[in-house]
Amino acid sequence: MASAPRMATASPAVRSLSEFSSEVVGGLSHPGQKELPSKYLYDAVGSALFDVICLLPEYGLSRAGMRMLERYSGEIIGRVPGPVMVAELGSGSGQQTRWLLEALARRQRVNYYPIDISGSALFRCQQELGQIDMVSIVGFERAYLDGLQEVAARRREGERLLVLFLGSTIGNFDRPAGDQFLREVRSILREGDALLLTTDLEKPVPTLILAYDDPAGVTAAFNKNLLARINRELGGDFDLANFEHVVRWDETERRIEMHLRSKVWQRVTIRKAGFRFYLREGETIWTESSHKYNPREVVQMGECSGYRCAGQWFDSEWPLAQNLFFAV
Ligand code: AVI
Repeated sequence: MASAPRMATASPAVRSLSEFSSEVVGGLSHPGQKELPSKYLYDAVGSALFDVICLLPEYGLSRAGMRMLERYSGEIIGRVPGPVMVAELGSGSGQQTRWLLEALARRQRVNYYPIDISGSALFRCQQELGQIDMVSIVGFERAYLDGLQEVAARRREGERLLVLFLGSTIGNFDRPAGDQFLREVRSILREGDALLLTTDLEKPVPTLILAYDDPAGVTAAFNKNLLARINRELGGDFDLANFEHVVRWDETERRIEMHLRSKVWQRVTIRKAGFRFYLREGETIWTESSHKYNPREVVQMGECSGYRCAGQWFDSEWPLAQNLFFAV
């Protein structure tokens, strides 16, 4: 019989419904373009839909990340001298991380700390990675930077921290916010600590549009689930049939944008937030941005945020980069 996965979870931060509520109200009250924070796409339903997205033939990003880590983990880990503890920002499904942890576990015992605001994501990570020999896991149900602070405080004498930020989640930040985030991560690190950052690279626009507007409608369901979540958790009365999933490429910002377009004039009430608002026919709610990069700008992003680049690896099938940085 398989033994229980070895994972403890540090006591979850109390994330109040009122924070969700006030961010939803803030975004929907925005003058001009209404918006909702993309981090709320990932409740249990949204995370499960995202797992399906990663299986879609049109969405090559996750498979490329996986292929690369299967291939290059040994080389990447070889460039990070030990002893090393590992923190991951956003635990995701854990599948990509497996290759890195296994490579590291060939030379040392590994303490691995996934950090995610989603308890269900941490649970899935535990199921995926809980059985690797020589690896023990403590999950932190926290916002990234809060969790990283706590993980860094657990560092033992002489240990180097390797931070993983995989899957091109950095692309979901606006570019200045992405730079700022890297600086904030740097402020928690010590000189010589490492950061492995995945960045999705620019590719033909039709390829990108299909990746975010797949014919099976999985990404549309993922996007609309944000409204369903507001209905479930905040007593909203969004009628999902009145919205369509829209994907745009912004050439100036070099990003894919996901929106939900109102098919009719409508009034929406979010009971628990005590909030009512109106949408015109054709008006959109902006739910996510996914920025695409070129390899040189990723090096610059790191350099202007307090790191030096120690290596970049590329996938030839789906242009994607794994970038290894050291804090300077
Ligand atoms: C998590 N993140 C990197 C994904 C992306 O590609 O921006 C989220 C996603 N949204 C729609 N499909 C995938």
